[in-house]
Amino acid sequence: MRIFVLTGAGISAESGLGTFRDKAGTGIWARFDPMKLATPEGFARDPEAVHAFYNTRRRNLLAAEPNEAHFALARLEAGLAERSGMLTLVTQNIDDLHERAGSRNVVHMHGELLKSRCAACDSVVDWRQDLSLEDQCEACGETGHLRPHVVWFGEMPLALDQIYGALAASDLFVAIGTSGTVYPAAGFVAQARALGIATCEINLEPSDDARLFDECRYGPASETVPAWVQDMLRQG
Ligand code: OAD
Repeated sequence: MRIFVLTGAGISAESGLGTFRDKAGTGIWARFDPMKLATPEGFARDPEAVHAFYNTRRRNLLAAEPNEAHFALARLEAGLAERSGMLTLVTQNIDDLHERAGSRNVVHMHGELLKSRCAACDSVVDWRQDLSLEDQCEACGETGHLRPHVVWFGEMPLALDQIYGALAASDLFVAIGTSGTVYPAAGFVAQARALGIATCEINLEPSDDARLFDECRYGPASETVPAWVQDMLRQG
């Protein structure tokens, strides 16, 4: 069995990282303006504010731990490989909790918070400390051009060719902890259906696209994901 899993902020919610949108109106984008903090225009206008926002998120990430849902997906990757199957794990999350739980192949379509990118020479390097306008690029020596290696609104997500290739080759598409509001990831379920691929949603509550999924499992990811992984590995 070849399974394609797309994860979103909901899988890291129980690790304390917060989601972007929720029905109670307490998500990150209800408290912070994404147009000011997650666009190239916002960064050009006020780089200090953008750096401060991501510096706080980076510190929170370094203090967080993976939860049972992340560990279960690492078990699924290993278990499918033993059965001559394959897991493609694509995440919209910029955290590294899948990797810390043991997942080996993670595609970060929205980038990675623990990396910086130089806007002058495009080099990407590991970055665990605060980032500021005073930092110098190790590769080109320029100062003031480093930014978080994350995809902002209006920018192209990463690895899309690889992602669409893996989606087309899969037997099952599973969306975990995502509201399905940000494209192109929000379009993967329709793409899967058009290709005749079975679809499953695992989320705290039905997303706006819930009707597009053949199977739905609702509840906290730390409970629903391990239970689903156990079912998948039992099926062989
Ligand atoms: P959202 O915040 O939009 O959606 C999170 C989803 O997780 C919601 O549907 C919640 O119901 C669900 N959820 C919350 N807690 C959960 C839990 N404990 N277990 C399971 N599900 C839970 O996050 P994303 O869909 O990931 O992009 O957002 C997509 C993109 O929008 C992000 O990658 C980010 C953001 O703007 C950029 O910054 C470019």
